[in-house]
Amino acid sequence: MGYLITLEGGEGAGKTSVLKRLAVFLEQQGFSVVSTREPGGIEISEQIRKVILDQNNVEMDPRTEALLYAAARRQHLVEKIIPALEAGKVVLCDRYIDSSLAYQGHARGLGISEIFSINKFAIDKYMPDLTLYFDIQPEIGLARIEKDGNREVNRLDVESIKFHEAVREGYQMLIQQYPERIQVIDADNEIDTVAQAAQKAVLAFMKINEKEADR
Ligand code: TYD
Repeated sequence: MGYLITLEGGEGAGKTSVLKRLAVFLEQQGFSVVSTREPGGIEISEQIRKVILDQNNVEMDPRTEALLYAAARRQHLVEKIIPALEAGKVVLCDRYIDSSLAYQGHARGLGISEIFSINKFAIDKYMPDLTLYFDIQPEIGLARIEKDGNREVNRLDVESIKFHEAVREGYQMLIQQYPERIQVIDADNEIDTVAQAAQKAVLAFMKINEKEADR
């Protein structure tokens, strides 16, 4: 079996850029790597992603949204992740179950344990082996992705900051709950520094697991 490594964080944390570098780095170390993302990664899940993220779907109920994320996750897991793990590959996945726990469970207020239940049904035994959480203050992350960074902050922006703060709070709760699985990476740094920290965390994880396998 390979390893399922997930990358998590709020908007603008840089996890997608780090994932690309991490994939190159691990290939250089001799691992066979599959890079993928959620929601999406395969055709059916990309279709579900469009429904979830479509700005016209304003009437979408939060539970419907949560179920759609879980459905997209299930299909992606079955079609792409499980075959890769069975082939002994390292799967790097941009977002996974913790995104649902932090966004839908905590920030949207549906409850972390409720969201865990529907996701347990979706993922079965496939919890991540390691999760890198890229931590950044929402204002800094959002400013990074904001094209016109110095425009005036309006009411919606403030609401959105509150939402993203709640997302971050959700992730903090998950770190408490899964201290061994989730490694925190300070994302308020140059991309090179962040990528190096991520590499270090993954190598440390690989070493421990090799040792355990040797026993
Ligand atoms: P995306 O454009 O992929 O964002 P990012 O580059 O930040 O990963 O959009 C995914 C959005 O969906 C993002 O705002 C987080 C959210 N999301 C959830 O709310 N729940 C989930 O389970 C997942 C996977 C994503």
